[in-house]
Amino acid sequence: MIPKHIAIIMDGNRRFAKQKYIARQQGHMKGFDKLTETLEWCLDIGINEVTVYAFSIENFKRSKEEVDGLMQLLKVKLEDLIADRKKIEENGVCVRALGNISLLPPHIQKLVAEVENLTSGFNRSFLNICLAYTSREEMTSSIKLIAEGLAEGKLEDSDVDSKLIESCLYSNSCQPLDLLLRTSGEVRLSDFLLWQSSYTLLSFVNVLWPEFSRWDLYAAVLFYQRHQGQLEDIKRAHDSKDTSVENELTDDTALRKEIFLEDVNNKKRQQIENLISIK
Ligand code: IPE
Ligand code: IPE
Ligand code: MG
Repeated sequence: MIPKHIAIIMDGNRRFAKQKYIARQQGHMKGFDKLTETLEWCLDIGINEVTVYAFSIENFKRSKEEVDGLMQLLKVKLEDLIADRKKIEENGVCVRALGNISLLPPHIQKLVAEVENLTSGFNRSFLNICLAYTSREEMTSSIKLIAEGLAEGKLEDSDVDSKLIESCLYSNSCQPLDLLLRTSGEVRLSDFLLWQSSYTLLSFVNVLWPEFSRWDLYAAVLFYQRHQGQLEDIKRAHDSKDTSVENELTDDTALRKEIFLEDVNNKKRQQIENLISIK
């Protein structure tokens, strides 16, 4: 089976630039171009959801020049996406940004909201771009939403369980993550999708991101296929035992949670609309 949802830590742009004696910004540019190419390869073989780590909260600590350069590239790519909406429409791609978007420069926030709004009706494939993202910040923000819900009396203590926390993560609309891939040979997760990757296969690929090829993608998919059966067995074994992590769902709690989560989603939609309306 082809993995439905893969995530990529696109790492190694600066090492690539160094190796090729080109400017760092050129390395990042090649990295952005590689993303477009990789998405096409994924669609070709039927992977319908891709989540990429494009910019972490830690990346804000790089030099101003480098951060500005990355924001400039992001701006151009988002503007291209809006201008060239035909490709997105053809493939029915819903683009979502995962992260603390408010940390990004205002003009980027607006572009992100425009892209999300433009593509929110599509559901044939999904591109989740992690921007100003870390997993720990994502979990913290989920817990803060729940704390607000408790303080406002929209939730009760007994409503809080791992499912509720999961429903308040930025990734709440994503499918389970099948395969996580990191390029550049670094074997670490760098605070990426820690919650979501509990039962995900990890593939560390020894090529720099701008050099990533269709064959590297296929090799990762083959790796997934070799281990997928084993993973399914583990999941089945866990599901069959009651670990009591989830609270018992009465009609009352179900309704309360539904109203609370609807409220959370409405707030998110409202934020997008507010950003779009800024002149
Ligand atoms: C990944 O490549 C791109 C971003 C983090 C934005 P790097 O910039 O981390 O390049 P290396 O890992 O230093 O080579
Ligand atoms: C992870 O790469 C973030 C992105 C690819 C955007 P980094 O290169 O920033 O990760 P660390 O800090 O070296 O682990
Ligand atoms: Mg790196």
